[in-house]
Amino acid sequence: MKTRKVGIIGLGHVGAHVAYSLAVQGIADELVLVDSNEKKVESECQDLRDSVAYLPHRVTVNIGTYEDLGDCDVIVNSIGKIEILRANQDRTDEMKFTVPAVNSYVGRVKASGFDGVVVNITNPCDVVTQQLAKGLGLPRGRVFGTGTGLDTSRLLSALARQTGIDHKSITAYMLGEHGNQQFAAWSNVSFRGKSLEEWAKTDERFRFDRDALQKESIRGGWVTFSGKYCTEYGIATTAARMVSIVLHDEKQIMPASAELCGEYGEKDVFVGVPCVIGKNGVEEVVELSLNEREKEELKKSCDVIRGNIKMVEEKK
Ligand code: 2OP
Repeated sequence: MKTRKVGIIGLGHVGAHVAYSLAVQGIADELVLVDSNEKKVESECQDLRDSVAYLPHRVTVNIGTYEDLGDCDVIVNSIGKIEILRANQDRTDEMKFTVPAVNSYVGRVKASGFDGVVVNITNPCDVVTQQLAKGLGLPRGRVFGTGTGLDTSRLLSALARQTGIDHKSITAYMLGEHGNQQFAAWSNVSFRGKSLEEWAKTDERFRFDRDALQKESIRGGWVTFSGKYCTEYGIATTAARMVSIVLHDEKQIMPASAELCGEYGEKDVFVGVPCVIGKNGVEEVVELSLNEREKEELKKSCDVIRGNIKMVEEKK
């Protein structure tokens, strides 16, 4: 029987938490850790190995090179320089470091013969996902980003606290840029088939300040960041969920940073939209019917991301 092998590039706070989540939840059987910082990756490998004897599932952990990633089923890309965010709290600032860094190794990953799925976390997530997809040249959908999958988790958490309904019974999406330009698609919020509008007619728990909840979902990352100068659990759990969906070919609908080829009237851009995710990565982009304001917001996001991509291209 085939084992499920996952490579992780970048063992900072986020990559290490992803590795631990994949191990502790029994999602991966084998982890390959790749990082240019030999001391850090050695420490993380040792610490993970120290946990495996008491984990519920068997998992092996090894340090590897880009060349060792060839037979992975999934690669999680999680390099970064989180300190850069201290100045402006804008994920775009990380681009100066992350884009050249990713471009320096993407050719080596391709040369390894890797033919699986990539889940990108590195910020700015939509821009870096596009760079990785371009560099790897895999079929459409095989490279996607955590994108607004994480911010949607923040929104679901806020909605659950507000309404008292469990997260898993709520359908809601943050869409657009995984950054300051994202928005909540309120027209599509429902609770197991009953829309937010319907609930609000009869139940005051559903008549909340929508702007405040949206703001909370956008700013949540910065609340986390401001006390410990990194974010870990939310993003690691989001990425681990996505890896699990791919490895089990679940065809679950989840927001992710995906390439648009005409959907929502946009193309040549990776942006946070709901997707059917399965063994081939993003297998379908789900087109929601958005109201005019939301359509405008999504367009704004796409334009911002395209502007950032243009900056990257001009620097080359
Ligand atoms: C987050 O939203 C900083 O992108 C990271 O947690």
